[in-house]
Amino acid sequence: MPKKTLDTYIERVRDSRVWHSVFRSGRGGTRLHDVLAIQQNVFFHLFPAKARRRSLDIGVTWYLGALTFGTFCILVITGILLMLYYHPSVPQAYADMKDLQFVVSSGVFLRNLHRWSAHAMVFLVFAHMFRVFYRGAYRPPREFNWVIGVLLLLITLLLSYTGYLLPWDQLSFWAVTVGSNIASAVPLVGAKIRFLLLGGHLVNANALLRFYVLHCVILPLAAIIFIAVHFWRIRKDGGLYAGAPRNPEAK
Ligand code: HEM
Repeated sequence: MPKKTLDTYIERVRDSRVWHSVFRSGRGGTRLHDVLAIQQNVFFHLFPAKARRRSLDIGVTWYLGALTFGTFCILVITGILLMLYYHPSVPQAYADMKDLQFVVSSGVFLRNLHRWSAHAMVFLVFAHMFRVFYRGAYRPPREFNWVIGVLLLLITLLLSYTGYLLPWDQLSFWAVTVGSNIASAVPLVGAKIRFLLLGGHLVNANALLRFYVLHCVILPLAAIIFIAVHFWRIRKDGGLYAGAPRNPEAK
């Protein structure tokens, strides 16, 4: 499509009643309109309407938080697609994995994309945390966001751990046997935690179902809620920490 026709088309869409009913701020090309466009959109309002130019430099964040979020999005999409082929039942779980490998078209690609994105997310979340620590971005007023971050780190690790059992092969079975035994070593409540996690005393059908529900529903929902709070907090804490001003006199 020639550029002029495309521009006219975009103009017409942005002047339409449908556009105005969704993006209330209207258009005007002023700073105020830009700010309102961010503040009045349910998704954008989590983010700051303005950012310090310095905080956008790659050296400030290495985009590690954004990359972590990117891998999380890939995991949600590929996870939903995998759910179309997987049954959390003892006779079928392993066979479904083999079907993904040999029968489903692009099944190997789908499964590996999910696996590798999970490994990447664990690596990136640690890298992001070290970056925040190294730059001192955890200090007030960002200490609450650091705590939210710690919860996100735990959720990421739990997502990884619960996903490990789902292929129901020897590796998963023994990994979860060892992992749940470690949990039972916690003084006083250890045995109860293990029982709650497995839905019994053994790694069997109950455990598979519990891990499936945790992996596909409870933990992803918790992650989405805490990620939303995490992004909203960045805005409330005055944007990203871009370091001390280079010339304090210049502010
Ligand atoms: C699912 C996991 C996580 C996601 C998706 C995520 C996402 C993000 C994003 C996109 C940012 C914006 C700047 C950047 O890219 O660095 C950010 C900032 C921040 N994150 Fe995370 N994060 C996660 C986990 C963590 C963890 C584990 C911690 C620390 C324990 C943490 C602490 C912080 C803090 C304190 C900031 C503000 C930093 C600043 O103002 O410069 N986050 N996060």
